[in-house]
Amino acid sequence: MTSPQSSPQGSSAAAELIARSNRLGSDPKNTNYAGGNTSAKGTETDPVTGEPVELLWVKGSGGDLGTLKESGLAVLRLDRMRALVGVYPGLEREDEMVAAFDYCLHGKGGAAPSIDTAMHGLVDAAHVDHLHPDSGIAIATAKDGQELTATIFGDQVVWVPWRRPGFQLGLDIAEIKEKNPQARGCILGGHGITAWGDTSAEAEEASLWIIDTAAAHIAEHSKAEPFGPPLEGYGALPAEERRARAAALGATIRGLASTDRAMVGHFTDADVVLDFLAASEHPRLAELGTSCPDHFLRTKVKPLVLDLPASATIEESIARLKELHVAYREDYQGYYDRNAVADSPAIRGADPLVVLVPGVGMFSYGKDKQTARVAGEFYVNAINVMRGAEGLSTYAPIDEAEKFRIEYWALEEAKLQRMPKPKPLAGRIALVTGAAGGIGKATATKLAAEGACVVVADLDLARAQAAAAEIGGSDVAVGVAADVSQESAVQAMVDAAVLAFGGVDLVVNNAGLSLSKSLLETTEADWDLQHNVMAKGSFLVSKAAARVLIDQGMGGDVIYISSKNSVFAGPNNIAYSATKADQAHQVRLLAAELGEHGVKVNGVNPDGVVAGSGIFASGWGANRAAVYGVEEKDLGKFYAQRTILKREVLPEHIANAVFVLCGPDMTHTTGLHVPVDAGVAAAFLR
Ligand SMILES: NC(=O)c1ccc[n+]([C@@H]2O[C@H](COP(=O)([O-])OP(=O)(O)OC[C@H]3O[C@@H](n4cnc5c(N)ncnc54)[C@H](O)[C@@H]3O)[C@@H](O)[C@H]2O)c1
Ligand SMILES: [Zn+2]
Repeated sequence: MTSPQSSPQGSSAAAELIARSNRLGSDPKNTNYAGGNTSAKGTETDPVTGEPVELLWVKGSGGDLGTLKESGLAVLRLDRMRALVGVYPGLEREDEMVAAFDYCLHGKGGAAPSIDTAMHGLVDAAHVDHLHPDSGIAIATAKDGQELTATIFGDQVVWVPWRRPGFQLGLDIAEIKEKNPQARGCILGGHGITAWGDTSAEAEEASLWIIDTAAAHIAEHSKAEPFGPPLEGYGALPAEERRARAAALGATIRGLASTDRAMVGHFTDADVVLDFLAASEHPRLAELGTSCPDHFLRTKVKPLVLDLPASATIEESIARLKELHVAYREDYQGYYDRNAVADSPAIRGADPLVVLVPGVGMFSYGKDKQTARVAGEFYVNAINVMRGAEGLSTYAPIDEAEKFRIEYWALEEAKLQRMPKPKPLAGRIALVTGAAGGIGKATATKLAAEGACVVVADLDLARAQAAAAEIGGSDVAVGVAADVSQESAVQAMVDAAVLAFGGVDLVVNNAGLSLSKSLLETTEADWDLQHNVMAKGSFLVSKAAARVLIDQGMGGDVIYISSKNSVFAGPNNIAYSATKADQAHQVRLLAAELGEHGVKVNGVNPDGVVAGSGIFASGWGANRAAVYGVEEKDLGKFYAQRTILKREVLPEHIANAVFVLCGPDMTHTTGLHVPVDAGVAAAFLR
């Protein structure tokens, strides 16, 4: 008996399907991120009976076609899947069929079957693609989409009026395929396309043909200015200016978008966005909202659009954005109230997820960076769709009630409820200075592990980027170069954080360096260097970051990595310890000053962190070892023996303390210093 894995027919069908899906999904013209699904049917040997069994491999719920792997496929028995037609209770109860798919699974079934499984299983073709191409959706959302479909494709592509995805849509498409044997696929009104073929190559060809033919038709027949003539004063600002404005507005906008819950942001000033905002029809079109069912959960039904020209001042823009935000929330609440029924899920928050600023660009938001970025990508898809639809006809997305049925679909809600509990720092953005190594890197690593996005700042860009890359991809950590002793560099660093992740919540003043010299040996330059990097540097960072924290209105934390030496007095330490004492008092001063904005300011006093510390590696360690009469390699152990707990202090221990101070449990503590030194009685705080 052949096992399913070794069956040549079955495994080759799945392998072909993966290859085709990856090809289709990796070209953004074919489908939006994580949008669409593909399937193949084939025969394997049933391990129970030894008889052949017909199977359906279909992309499971979630996941992206471009990176689909075999583990992302649901595997169902075709006979049982098709037998569901006999028990289908009708449109009103079609959602129940999703649970019924579980009874059709082959073996362990692979990934969870998605809502589109019926379409793939019921259509009588060995290979089926369902995609969300901008060009196809442009036809699907054009007011006269049905006529356009006939004009563009003749009888090769059939128009299917809008219907929410589900079992009934699967039945509809199966019937269309049966009645139109010449057809290669269909345009799903308000939604996307479905194409099929007897072989994988035939399905792929049909998909690409529909996508490319629609795009070519739009290119050839579109009116010259689909978004209308230019709107005076709404054109793109020069690149540098719009980035500066985005940074200046970003914190306020993130604060508004986070009224219900903390959001991470994404910013783009791509031409496609700027061109849309520069044209006269953008207010009307933006108000009509997005259309493809994939979009609503990520973009909300419509964006917030600043209705001021690019020449408006920052103050005018902020004042207007605040008014528009109030109006947006009222409008969204109205949409919810108009459409919700008794068993609708509760409102999920009324803040916009996409905010458009003419001349500047688009801010998009999500619970994490990836979600925020994809929301922005989806709105770019929506702009492309609107351009195509308006170019040929009039953009006419599905109506509000249908949008609501998707956004607040019980099945979507169930998916959201199944999501793992967010990490403690999810939605928060950390900025750690001196984070390319030592305590700073350990801190950035810890904060990222607890769910924060982190900006890794250090003197050397390559080192900062390398540390960021070790922590995670660009959705988790980015490296920036900044000398904290230079005001302009500090501002650029904070701006970079706002542009990368939307703002800043957790600021860790960690950058530092240490010279161990006696009073008589300490030069003026030594003194200035230590004070410039630590006392002045952390002042500059706190100041630039505080503006963001205040604009956001979301509270936040400033944490100083001070030192045991801020309170302990010993020889050969005048410049370092004095500047550490300065930092320690900044903690108290800023705790007193920033409390009214909900910002907590605390410090950590480490001591004897030898392992991983650049400070120790670059001479300080050798010097200390000489002072204490031990070998440099034994310095960590030597320090441990001096402590009350006799434990060596590692960078991770400092990082853990930072997390506790800014994590969810320490909400009522400000102005505190936490010693992380394994117990040094001479540095006890009192
Ligand atoms: N290691 C310890 O035992 C210990 C004890 C008490 C306090 N601290 C403090 O902890 C912090 C981190 O120290 P570490 O031991 O990890 O040392 P480290 O040398 O490994 O890390 C310090 C980082 O700060 C960066 N830096 C230096 N000057 C900078 C500037 N002008 N702008 C931006 N970045 C700059 C360095 O490039 C380096 O990556 C320092 O403030 C230090 O004083 C360390
Ligand atoms: Zn779809």
